Amino acid sequence: MSATTDTNKDRVFIFDTTLRDGEQSPGATMTLEEKLQVAEALDDMGVDIIEAGFPIASNGDFEAVVAVAKQVKRATVTGLARAITADIDRAGEAVRLAQKGRIHTFVSTSPIHLAHQMKKTEDEVIEIIARTVAHARNLIDDVEWSAMDATRTPLEFLKRCVEAAIKAGATTINLPDTVGYAVPDEHEKMFREVIGSVPGAEKAIFSAHCHNDLGLAVANSLAAVRGGARQVECTVNGLGERAGNAALEEIVMALRTRGDVMPYHTEIETTHLARASRIVSAAANFPVQYNKAIVGKNAFAHESGIHQDGMLKNAETYEIMTPASVGIKETTLVMGKHSGRAAFKDKLRELGYTLGDNAFQEAFQRFKDLADRKKHVYDADIVALVDDEVGSVGDRIKLVDMEVVSKTGGVHKCTIVLSIDGAESSVTYEGTGSVDAIFNAIKQGVGQEPNLVLYAVDGVTGGTDAQASAHVRLEMNGRIVSGNAAEPDTLVASARAYLNAYNRLLIERGASAQGAMAG
Ligand code: KIV
Ligand code: ZN
Repeated sequence: MSATTDTNKDRVFIFDTTLRDGEQSPGATMTLEEKLQVAEALDDMGVDIIEAGFPIASNGDFEAVVAVAKQVKRATVTGLARAITADIDRAGEAVRLAQKGRIHTFVSTSPIHLAHQMKKTEDEVIEIIARTVAHARNLIDDVEWSAMDATRTPLEFLKRCVEAAIKAGATTINLPDTVGYAVPDEHEKMFREVIGSVPGAEKAIFSAHCHNDLGLAVANSLAAVRGGARQVECTVNGLGERAGNAALEEIVMALRTRGDVMPYHTEIETTHLARASRIVSAAANFPVQYNKAIVGKNAFAHESGIHQDGMLKNAETYEIMTPASVGIKETTLVMGKHSGRAAFKDKLRELGYTLGDNAFQEAFQRFKDLADRKKHVYDADIVALVDDEVGSVGDRIKLVDMEVVSKTGGVHKCTIVLSIDGAESSVTYEGTGSVDAIFNAIKQGVGQEPNLVLYAVDGVTGGTDAQASAHVRLEMNGRIVSGNAAEPDTLVASARAYLNAYNRLLIERGASAQGAMAG
């Protein structure tokens, strides 16, 4: 059978949880606007189910699920709920306006969770499942039930739980590998055994939800499909708690490329994968590792002489899928300082961006400035510039001016002018190096002391005139946020990335910038 076999029993539904499990990744918090951009990209790509958030978690999460539910045209939209009536009601309310809505409710089933977290007996858990799933079914027809920590649950008890959930009306049964503990053979066996023996199993779709703690999330998801699962839960770029969730792009391309041994298919438009990866990376301020399968910068780069020689003769010598099939285009020289608005708009469209009028004007101005300073402007430069622009919309603390003095073995000093809610102020501070001086000056200017968790700089393209893409992660009072910026000057990029992260701290804490100033 080939991968294109189009019968329902071979169709694998893609459940994307980038906006819920993905966003739980430290530092990956997204604003409402960013969530809507991600949801749009997922819907365009053909994702079947979008998990948009955990509505009871906060008003922000609730509003985001409502907004995604209203916006999405094709996919089913779901919200997560614990096995608690109030959670389920809130999730039902959040997806009420979706074209197709689902409530996703879960309860832990493993002995370790029952003993230490839930303090419940097995019989009590069965009663909870029956009651809460039935409650959800009274609100909506499409109900998913998940057995949290299923892979560390004794099989006989897991089967009792699944039977109770199906009896109560669950239409999808998810058996998560919550802690990333499973290995492929046993994972396949678990699905095969549960699906093959639980009374009523044929009435539900079974789903895999794998975490990547042992680097096996994608392998386990594919094994689950071999064992009978027909829904996989995954995230773009593998974003997620700890080591992340199974990566959507890897599952989809593995099924497509190896249809000879895995005769299943998805309805994902694979040429959207690279774009979705970029959008999620920019929205979550989470860089994609260079050698990440499918969407990493090096995923289709051939360095060794033997490989390059083979590629020139026939791309199939070293490529099992084409870059074009995942939406990666040759890096192209785009435009120079003489390019006009229409050409820039066209290029943005080709790269998958639609900007509102203000954002477009700002991006165009920045493109012009860049073209003045940099000989060649590539697609990657435009992507970095627009992602930077979109990611800093609404920033309340802005960089107005900066001067850095640095001497080998001597002083490193930064004078910075910041605009905080429109009011400008200047501060000078020293550090052990230029970047340290800049960050110290910003902290002094804003009056707060977040911890720097990560600082990284990367070239957007090659060459010494390449834009620097700076990434900063800050922690304050237990919250972790990320900031990005791209600029031809590394120090300015670093300052703007720091400020971008700082602005996110303000947004998330709902603090006033003046308050922050006062310390
Ligand atoms: O990993 C997990 O078990 C989950 C559930 C809430 C589905 O994310
Ligand atoms: Zn999870």
